[in-house]
Amino acid sequence: VASVEVIEGCRLPVLRKNQENEDEWPLAEILSVKETAGRKLYYVHYIDFNKRLDEWVTPDRLDMKKLQFPKKEAKTPTKNGLPGSRPGSPEREMVSAPVLTFLIIKIIMIIRKLLQIPYWIRSAKRKADPVSLAMQVSPATPVSTLSASNGTARRLMPSQPGRKRKANCVGTDEDSQDSSDGIPSAPRMTGSLVSDRSHDDIVTRMKNIDCIELGRHRLKPWYFSPYPQELTALPILYLCEFCLKYLKSLKCLQRHLTKCNLRHPPGNEIYRKGTISFFEIDGRKNKTYSQNLCLLAKCFLDHKTLYYDTDPFLFYVMTEYDSKGFHIVGYFSKEKESTEDYNVACILTLPPYQRRGYGKLLIEFSYELSKVEGKTGTPEKPLSDLGLLSYRSYWSQTILEILMDLKSDNGERPQITINEISEITSVKKEDVISTLQYLNLINYYKGQYILTLSEDIVDGHERAMQKRHLRIDPKCLHFTPKDWSKRGKW
Ligand code: ACO
Ligand code: ZN
Repeated sequence: VASVEVIEGCRLPVLRKNQENEDEWPLAEILSVKETAGRKLYYVHYIDFNKRLDEWVTPDRLDMKKLQFPKKEAKTPTKNGLPGSRPGSPEREMVSAPVLTFLIIKIIMIIRKLLQIPYWIRSAKRKADPVSLAMQVSPATPVSTLSASNGTARRLMPSQPGRKRKANCVGTDEDSQDSSDGIPSAPRMTGSLVSDRSHDDIVTRMKNIDCIELGRHRLKPWYFSPYPQELTALPILYLCEFCLKYLKSLKCLQRHLTKCNLRHPPGNEIYRKGTISFFEIDGRKNKTYSQNLCLLAKCFLDHKTLYYDTDPFLFYVMTEYDSKGFHIVGYFSKEKESTEDYNVACILTLPPYQRRGYGKLLIEFSYELSKVEGKTGTPEKPLSDLGLLSYRSYWSQTILEILMDLKSDNGERPQITINEISEITSVKKEDVISTLQYLNLINYYKGQYILTLSEDIVDGHERAMQKRHLRIDPKCLHFTPKDWSKRGKW
């Protein structure tokens, strides 16, 4: 074969294993090329897949027969020039723009109708008489789209002006990741996010950390995270699983562990049931911890841009206890004050714990906090693909739980308004409406809008609830909300 050079921007089918471990050849774009030990490696993004599957591949995995060269004029016309940052299904993209537009229009139409006509729900749970619920909606509210746009700026990480690192045990000086010291070896990025994005794109669209050791787990990052550049060449980055400090070697970690006496996250333990605890951490009071948590989280969060300050945030870290300590499982962050009713900014279950119900536990906890605050809340947009799946599942189960518990008075259809569902659950009204729509419960029946709970829905819900073992027990929550607006500058 004559030497045709595969360059950045080329597209061609690339061999990968799918979830069933079968070979497939999806179209991919070459994002970068490098040469190690005389051998070329290609960093590829599979066009219709989430960016977390991007990887370095050897030349034998490229289908050269179908090589397409980059078009001159424009690259993928996505915002920020980040072709891979579109959220999609866990594997393949699902929601196309026309579908999204259609959905948004549908939701708007439904809200309009909700405002004019009382809604009825008919429960087809038992084959006997249908039980219906009247639903009314009052104020008009803007619709929030769930499935998100592309790479919108999100608050995740503080950025600090770069400062020289000392010591050869990078990040090992006890004070080098210390708040009093201003996080020198931490994030290498500049204060201005937005203006820096285009410049950063080439770097930030590629994973930079190969492997993270955290307690007994080895984590494979999905996305870029702004750890200091010199640490990105390491085969393994070591983290103290309790204070989340990063270290360049096992030796440095071991030395750190002799001095670090944390066995749980800093902050107050505000919830404990069984082995599950939640700690509340103030981003201002525990800066170092919060920043190290954000660095770790960024490895698994794509659509978040780095923000310069953790001060405006609280971090709720969920842990699992054993004789060695309280091990981090996941967390969510939350603005101390949100003008948009956000009750979660970023949410993460660490990969070794994913798909075991912890994500929904974190979500449930976030709504329990909102209940104590007497507010409704919603997660910050855009949601990731997995974030959307988890929230949809949580909202569906929460709303169905309420609808199915409704009792009919004297043979009448039991009634409930969307406002009431929202008040009971602290789920923001727009999310209640979008969930009813997503579940396809809304029907037109004898001149009225009716929500029909089909047998399939009811059975599916009952089966799902039997599998949902992990639940938050509100009695175990010891939380007093603070009025941050009265605290001056936090
Ligand atoms: N593929 C298909 N479905 C999935 C997957 C997956 N990979 N992961 C979760 N789900 C579904 C589950 O099936 C479950 O639904 P079900 O109970 O109806 O079957 C639901 O999502 C929740 O599952 P959990 O086990 O409770 O959630 P998990 O612990 O895996 O955490 C989370 C979910 C937090 C979104 C996790 O995937 C994660 O940390 N992802 C990376 C970070 C991220 O994307 N966070 C959300 C960003 S949006 C925001 O921050 C506001
Ligand atoms: Zn430590």
